[in-house]
Amino acid sequence: MAQQNIFDNEVFFDGYKKLRDQEVNANILFEIPALSSLLPDLEGKEILDLGCGFGEHCVDYVKRGAKRVVGIDLSEKMLEVARKENADPKIEYLRLPIEELDKVSGTFDVVISSLAFHYVEDYAGVVKKIYEKMNAGAVFVFSQEHPFTTTYSNKLPRWTRDENGKKIYINLADYGVEGERTSTWFVDNFIVYHRMFSTIVNELAQNGFVIEKMIEPTPDEELLAKYPEYYDLFHKPDFLLVRARK
Ligand SMILES: C[S@@+](CC[C@H](N)C(=O)[O-])C[C@H]1O[C@@H](n2cnc3c(N)ncnc32)[C@H](O)[C@@H]1O
Repeated sequence: MAQQNIFDNEVFFDGYKKLRDQEVNANILFEIPALSSLLPDLEGKEILDLGCGFGEHCVDYVKRGAKRVVGIDLSEKMLEVARKENADPKIEYLRLPIEELDKVSGTFDVVISSLAFHYVEDYAGVVKKIYEKMNAGAVFVFSQEHPFTTTYSNKLPRWTRDENGKKIYINLADYGVEGERTSTWFVDNFIVYHRMFSTIVNELAQNGFVIEKMIEPTPDEELLAKYPEYYDLFHKPDFLLVRARK
């Protein structure tokens, strides 16, 4: 199965990097704090990061005491930044599709993936392989675009807005139709894979994972006062985060 390596597209890469380099974005305000809150104690742990991108999380895991971190990613351009800006003797960066994670040597105490699973078509196959790569009692933490975010359909505008252009509610169509969704994000033909919430959860349960916690981040009062535009997250969460245990 061929993966879409959109992060090696120059236009996409430049647009994405600019977004991530911003001082404030949804990742910094919501996704990263939620992911951090789900992490177990990493002292002395062996960690596998699936879709590690720039490797920012991998160095953070070393700072938290990890013994070994393996970061895998499909994109050479992302890994180039990781190797240049986030290198550490305890980190190994490998160019490898998540779908082939069984090729990584050893087993792990913690498997983490931040915002990569919605690019993966064969989620069921990947969950199975993750379980096999984990030590008994190991923890699996991941974030992905929320299923209400990956739902988008070309039949409807994503948001209904008031006369001032303010978003008032999201339009949902074809939520139960799983599979490829194509849109424009920096480039045309940007592909993600939509799965229902139940599919994401059931696949974990059926493979033997115990789900410990899920987060759909929304702003607290302080954040909302500073960034009122993120009220949108009460209409439609951007992210889904899960912690599960083997
Ligand atoms: C949105 S970025 C997130 C990067 C990083 N985890 C973070 O949170 O900053 C998604 C990353 O997943 C990678 N990716 C997408 N599909 C992949 C696949 N099938 N196998 C490996 N990496 C993949 C991309 O190349 C990209 O680096």
